[in-house]
Amino acid sequence: MNESIAVYPGSFDPLTVGHDDLVQRSLRLVDHLIVAVAETATQGKAGLFSIEERVDLIREVYADEPRVEATSFSGLLVDFAQAREARLIVRGLRAVSDFEYEFQMALMNRSLWPEVEVLFMAPDSRHTFLSSSLVREVGRLGGDVTKFVNPLVKVRMDERFMCDSKE
Ligand code: PNS
Repeated sequence: MNESIAVYPGSFDPLTVGHDDLVQRSLRLVDHLIVAVAETATQGKAGLFSIEERVDLIREVYADEPRVEATSFSGLLVDFAQAREARLIVRGLRAVSDFEYEFQMALMNRSLWPEVEVLFMAPDSRHTFLSSSLVREVGRLGGDVTKFVNPLVKVRMDERFMCDSKE
């Protein structure tokens, strides 16, 4: 039987508990999930971690979950998905405000590769306000991000901000 494979693309700068919620939900639906860090994000954002650091962190977080693979990709998401034979792309929809951007991307992706399906999933309601950009900002300004990220991510963020404050 063919393995079902999905791609969960994003910037993941950093991976949050909201992303993890979506990973766990996806694992109920597919055999193999590729968490794919985009080298070219549609909305340009000032980065906290390099692409390699983000991928390494995701690998560390899911070290005990062989069904999750972390990698990066350059170029178009649909080209990456096609190369990996993943006909399903998963994305989280936190609020109506996400919808327009997500819907537009989904239709563009499907127009580029008609065989792909995009599955939107609602995260746990506790995470609907959460975004990597807010977590970055809170962390950068000295706020406690413990509730929002995996402990491994928290350690890396603390190290990063410690280094930044010494510069
Ligand atoms: O976490 P993000 O930043 O909202 O993720 C956006 C992402 C990475 C899914 C999007 O920017 C993307 O797919 N980038 C890859 C380049 C691409 O395929 N662009 C066309 C999108 S229709």
